[in-house]
Amino acid sequence: MKNFRDRVAVVTGGAGGLGRAMAERFAREGMRVVIADVDAAALARTEAELRAGGADVAGVRCDVAKAADVEALAQAALARYGAVHVAVNNAGVSPVGPVWENTVRDWEWALGVNLWGVIHGVRVFTPILLAQGDEGHIVNTASVAGLINPPGMGVYNASKHAVVSLTETLHHDLARRGARVKCSVLCPAYVPTGIHDSERTRPKALVDEGRAPSAEQVATAAMVRKAVLSGRISAAQVAEAVLAAIRDERFYILTHERIKPAIAARMEDILSGATPRDPLALG
Ligand SMILES: NC(=O)c1ccc[n+]([C@@H]2O[C@H](COP(=O)([O-])OP(=O)(O)OC[C@H]3O[C@@H](n4cnc5c(N)ncnc54)[C@H](O)[C@@H]3O)[C@@H](O)[C@H]2O)c1
Repeated sequence: MKNFRDRVAVVTGGAGGLGRAMAERFAREGMRVVIADVDAAALARTEAELRAGGADVAGVRCDVAKAADVEALAQAALARYGAVHVAVNNAGVSPVGPVWENTVRDWEWALGVNLWGVIHGVRVFTPILLAQGDEGHIVNTASVAGLINPPGMGVYNASKHAVVSLTETLHHDLARRGARVKCSVLCPAYVPTGIHDSERTRPKALVDEGRAPSAEQVATAAMVRKAVLSGRISAAQVAEAVLAAIRDERFYILTHERIKPAIAARMEDILSGATPRDPLALG
């Protein structure tokens, strides 16, 4: 996509972290931006701050795990701005712990946001972008955890691998159609955001009341928190990479060069029939 000015972007998880940074970057490019988030207070705050900075922005409360919410989000964007050119399916959450300890509610919550959120975004926004017959771009936020499998993050890894798979397939389906709509999958490693504290947005119905986290869950949560908060690449830098990928029509957005050997190691282990190496233990 070459022209950004006056075009319309929708960003889910737009009230904080990477989503907010992308919304800000798109606005600086002259785009109108719809930010969608389940956290109404953070959404109102972010909408006001972006508008005070000169952005043409609209906030829509939306739980991406719910089909009807994402359908209403698209209708709200069309009603407000008349079109959607960039759809970023970015909202995500991160439960931790040994994979057998994760509860049904952990799986429902994380797959609901991380995978169903992307499914709904692709299902709802792709036909809108195609029908416009114009340039368009869909960005799905996965993670390096969609390309490698760090221990203690089985639910998150499974959701993010599914997002990579879905987005690669979307690319092939759009290419077969000869569409002017392109797509990318965003796979960052650790970036300082609120992702280590994502329990804050878990719906009450998906909380395991009275269940204390195991020692391993506590240890992994502490490790993830430290790694996220000490991430050296900022959300603003990730947003810059996303904008460049949309402009250059680049599919894979890998923001952290140093993680590539771990991806190569996984591929080598698969092809050579070796036992998988722990990606966090590679030098
Ligand atoms: N920060 C990292 O280190 C990192 C690395 C790789 C991938 N990611 C991915 O980036 C994406 C953005 O996360 P972030 O790091 O900015 O975290 P964040 O917690 O700062 O932001 C996530 C946003 O999503 C919103 N959200 C949560 N559940 C939602 C729902 N059901 N519907 C709508 N919005 C919802 C939250 O309220 C929040 O504003 C996620 O998909 C995450 O998995 C983050």
